[in-house]
Amino acid sequence: MAEARKVPFFNYPFVYTHEEKELTEIFQDVGRRGAFILQQDLRDFEKNLAEFMGVKFALGVSNGTDGLLMALRAAGIGQGDEVIFCSHTFIATAAAIHYSGATPIPAETNEDHQIDPEHVKTLITSKTKAIMPTQLNGRCSNMEALQKIADDHGLHIIEDAAQGLGATFKGKMAGTFGIGAAMSFYPAKVLGCLGDGGAVFTNDENIYENYLLQRDHGRDHKTGEVVAWGLNLRLDNLQAAFLNHRLKKYPEVIKRRREMAGMYQEFLEDIEEIVLPPAPTEEDDYFDIYQNYEVRVPNRDEYKAFLAEHGVGTLIQWGGQGIHQMKKLGFTQSLPKTEDIVSKIILLPMNMSLSNDDIEYVCGITRKYFKK
Ligand SMILES: Cc1ncc(COP(=O)(O)O)c(C=O)c1O
Repeated sequence: MAEARKVPFFNYPFVYTHEEKELTEIFQDVGRRGAFILQQDLRDFEKNLAEFMGVKFALGVSNGTDGLLMALRAAGIGQGDEVIFCSHTFIATAAAIHYSGATPIPAETNEDHQIDPEHVKTLITSKTKAIMPTQLNGRCSNMEALQKIADDHGLHIIEDAAQGLGATFKGKMAGTFGIGAAMSFYPAKVLGCLGDGGAVFTNDENIYENYLLQRDHGRDHKTGEVVAWGLNLRLDNLQAAFLNHRLKKYPEVIKRRREMAGMYQEFLEDIEEIVLPPAPTEEDDYFDIYQNYEVRVPNRDEYKAFLAEHGVGTLIQWGGQGIHQMKKLGFTQSLPKTEDIVSKIILLPMNMSLSNDDIEYVCGITRKYFKK
């Protein structure tokens, strides 16, 4: 086993320090140009991001949560509508549905921690207008099954792709399947900025025009005339400049994350008590980018404490609760499969500051815990 060390779950200073010189130069350049709001760096980033994803339109916005709300509104979702989402997600998914005026309807979670299309089918009513799958942990949901359901019932798909930049299903990227989608550039995301940031996507020109209006006070971007109600939902030009720089190296980052996932797989796959995420193979329909490495273990809290005693940081996404378990928000559903899954989930360290020895150490402590 690699020698004893501290492996924090996430190293926030590293987001800046690992390329301090380049980022400082970008800051100086943007500052000296006074290019703060809706400037060239943002336009460049949007163009490069759309190209990278294979989508017609990408638009930088204030954060992923605002982006989800924009995408719902642009698709005409509102009062009296229902939107089905996976209960194992961040509250932002459901909150965006709530703030659109629609009712969030939580669905069950599958073995791979994605929305269960079979359960989605049972939740459809005359009020259902959309399905909002979360492309969780850097993996796509089964978009073929979801698309079929959407087609059969005349529903929109709007993706919560906050954790999914670069993940593909049958060669198509997260964020490009639905009529709209949103992504997050929160600093801990695989493509993170130095603060809050996000993007919305679409292949539909009308949706794009609507995004533009919502983002900038309802002003027509060509004439400046106010033609609709809008807000200030813009991505800072400075953040766009940082992101544009980072996007160039993004394929290398994905490669490294898949390599780390491969190491976890190799060192832990023989432990029956742990359920690992799908391995980083190239053979099936999924290409995962490992935003997170989420495993399931029976005595999760005890395992977490054992890792902590040995200097290893972990995180339990959203407190180990499905959204439907947040009863104070008015949810009354019971989703046994999701409840079982979230009672066992724990994220092991997965980020670019980790060395191979760090991963080996985390795996060594895990093996010790399971007496392997
Ligand atoms: C699944 C999911 N949805 C939505 C969001 C919201 O993104 P943001 O924090 O940029 O508002 C996040 C990230 O924080 C997320 O992980």
